[in-house]
Amino acid sequence: MIDLQRLFLRFALALLLLTVIAGVLASFAFLLPACFNTILPFHELRPVHASAALFWIITGAACCVSYFSGRHSKAFMVLWMVTIVVIFANYCFHHYGGREYWEFPAYLNLPLLAAWLCFMAVFLKRLPAGAPVYYWMWSTGVFFFLLTFLEQQLWHISWFRVSFLREVTVQWKANGAMVGAWNQMINGLSVYLLVAISGDAGLAQKKKTWFLYFLGLFNLMFNWGHHVYNVPNSNWMRGVAYGVSMTEWVIIILIIRDFSNSLSTGRKFRHLVVYRFIRTAELWVAANLLLALLMSIPAINRYTHGTHITVAHAMGTTIGINTMLLLAAFGYILDVDSLPERTRRWLRVAISVNTVSLAVFWVALIVAGLVKGYLMTDHPENSFAVVMMAIRPYLEVFTVAGVGVMIALGVICIIFLKYSGRRREV
Ligand code: HEM
Repeated sequence: MIDLQRLFLRFALALLLLTVIAGVLASFAFLLPACFNTILPFHELRPVHASAALFWIITGAACCVSYFSGRHSKAFMVLWMVTIVVIFANYCFHHYGGREYWEFPAYLNLPLLAAWLCFMAVFLKRLPAGAPVYYWMWSTGVFFFLLTFLEQQLWHISWFRVSFLREVTVQWKANGAMVGAWNQMINGLSVYLLVAISGDAGLAQKKKTWFLYFLGLFNLMFNWGHHVYNVPNSNWMRGVAYGVSMTEWVIIILIIRDFSNSLSTGRKFRHLVVYRFIRTAELWVAANLLLALLMSIPAINRYTHGTHITVAHAMGTTIGINTMLLLAAFGYILDVDSLPERTRRWLRVAISVNTVSLAVFWVALIVAGLVKGYLMTDHPENSFAVVMMAIRPYLEVFTVAGVGVMIALGVICIIFLKYSGRRREV
């Protein structure tokens, strides 16, 4: 591994550490505004946390995709890292701007764009003949990230800004679709890892895997519809969006079927840390897909939209699925399964602590969202303060569980950083 790649990998892990620390601080700042408002108020910590989370996922995905494909761009890595450091320096000096999740001065999107174009120039040169499905997933993700990133920037054109509704629709749509783009990159990584662990290259050529790729692509292109249910729209659009989201049932059915079919495979690889990360992600795919499908039903979305259920959906997927799969890929690169047994035990325990804490964290947010949705929609006579008092106990549980997530992911990060000089040839 050339040094720049090692630095890039460490940089991604540092972003994960920043994400969990800023997340915990943000939830304490929310619960105890009197203690935090003068130094680190919630409205400043939230963008730091959300941007760190977003950059952790995209940087982590780009890092692993570059590593496994052997296609890396030095210009991308340098420009990307420097820009992100400048973004967080701006946050430190209270310089905010942009739009949700990208709340830094907007000109910094230019070097990010230039960096991504450098990555694309190297990555999308040509696909190897008979490329396995994971190459297609990676390429699709890399390309669609560019499209959704550009779409996210449309607010710079005044025509989008003159109508608040128009702008919000495009923002929600672009952010929803961008998740589909990084999911393609990360799903490709999980197929790559399953092939590598099982030694069965046929997995990446199976009809079902290709089918899932096209289904994922279809959803990436169209399932953002459920992100814009709440803007005034024709009903037929809501209907189509709902129909598209429902196709994801097919994925969940296949996942559950695979889960039972792969019990013997599971037993065979049970001891592998990398495999454990993948199995944990599988569990969260099922849980979050169920939640997302329920949220996509317009009658339910009426109550859930903008409540903590949306936050549960966002963090359940980014921590439970994206982060677990990225850590599996990092673990594979660093060959953590050949570390001393004591260290591997630490990693296994940390994975279990994360799963339990995240489960409590997720359920607490869902309950808080249900109570809030019910009180605000069916009892509009309640003031916002009354609603927030009612959900406070659930947010306290969420914060305590968040500390568990921070410790577990922190331990994993520190072990990975400690051994980040290692590498596995691919
Ligand atoms: C890998 C770890 C994590 C990732 C990837 C992550 C990701 C995210 C994302 C994407 C959002 C925006 C959600 C939205 O707009 O709906 C968010 C919000 C938030 N996260 Fe996390 N998060 C992580 C860990 C944590 C932890 C450990 C805590 C601690 C309790 C936490 C607390 C929060 C809080 C308080 C918010 C703001 C919620 C709101 O505005 O209502 N996060 N996180």
